[in-house]
Amino acid sequence: MMLQATTPAPPDFQVYSVSVIVVISVVVFAFAVVITLLRRGDRRRAEEEKLAAIGTATARILHQIKNPLQTIVLHADILQDERIVSEAYQRREVCEAIVGESQRLVSMLEELSVYASGARRTLNRRPVRLDDLVRQVTEVEAREALGTGLTVDAADFAETTVYGDAYYLRQVFDNLVRNAREAMEGQDEPPRLRVRVARQGGNAEVRVTDNGPGIAPENLQRVFQPFVSTKGKGMGLGLAICREIVEGHAGRLDVESALGRGTTFIVSLPLHTEAPALASAGA
Ligand SMILES: Nc1ncnc2c1ncn2[C@@H]1O[C@H](COP(=O)(O)OP(=O)(O)OP(=O)(O)O)[C@@H](O)[C@H]1O
Ligand SMILES: [Mg+2]
Repeated sequence: MMLQATTPAPPDFQVYSVSVIVVISVVVFAFAVVITLLRRGDRRRAEEEKLAAIGTATARILHQIKNPLQTIVLHADILQDERIVSEAYQRREVCEAIVGESQRLVSMLEELSVYASGARRTLNRRPVRLDDLVRQVTEVEAREALGTGLTVDAADFAETTVYGDAYYLRQVFDNLVRNAREAMEGQDEPPRLRVRVARQGGNAEVRVTDNGPGIAPENLQRVFQPFVSTKGKGMGLGLAICREIVEGHAGRLDVESALGRGTTFIVSLPLHTEAPALASAGA
C-alpha cells in the first residue's frame, strides 16, 4: 500500500486559520468582559436600590416615631406647669393628648412588627366563612361611621368559604376599609364605601370600592411597596402587609382606580374545597 504524503496547507490558509482563532478568542474575551461588567453593574444597582429602600424605610420610621414623641414630650411639659393647666378639664385634655399619641405610637410599632415578622408569619388556617368575616368588618365600619355622612353599602354578599387564617384575613379587610375611609376624608362629594363578596370561578372575590380621589396610573403598583405613603400620619405598610397576607393564602390583591372617581381593591382567594380542609382542620 502506498502512503500518500499530505501536502502542507498553503501559507494563506494558515494565516486565515490563525486570524479566525484570534478573532474568535477576542470576541469570546470581549463577551466575557461585557457579561462581567453587566453583572457587576446589576449587583451595584441592586445594592443601590437596597440602600435607597433602607433609607426610605428609616426616614419614614423616624418621622413617624419622632412626631408623636415630640407631642407627648410637649404635653407632658405643659402638665408640669400649673399656670397653664390649673383646671381639671385642662389637665384631662392634655392627658388625653398624651394617651392618644402614645396609642398611635404603639399601633404603629405593632404594624411595623407585623411587617417585620412577615417571613416568619405562620398562618393558622381553617375553613372561614369569608362573607361573615367581611360583614363583621363592614358592620363595625358602619357603626363608627354613624353621623359622619359616610354611606356603607354592603348588601351583596355571596356565601363563600375559604381556607385561611381569620385573624390575618380580618387585618386585610380592616386595612382596605380604613384606607378607603381615609382616602375619602374631607371630600366634597358624599363619601360612599361599597363592599361586595362574590364567587368568581374557583375563587372568592371581595371588592372594596370608594368614591375617593383615585390613584394615578403610574402609582397603581407603587402603593403596594412598603413605606410608600402619601399620608402625614402613615407608615405606608398597610397594603404591603395586605398583599403579603393574601399571597400567603395563595390569593391575589389587585387594584383598579380612576382619578377623580374612586378606587377598588380586589381580594381573590381560592374557594375552600372540603377534602384538604377536613384533613388539616384536625391537624
Ligand atoms: N382607597 C384608596 N384611595 C386612594 N389612595 C389610596 C387608597 N388606598 C391606599 N392609597 C394610597 O396608597 C398609599 C399606601 O397605602 P398603605 O395602606 O400601604 O399605607 P398608608 O395608609 O399610607 O399608611 P398605613 O397603612 O401604614 O397607616 C396611601 O398612602 C395612599 O396614597
Ligand atoms: Mg393604610
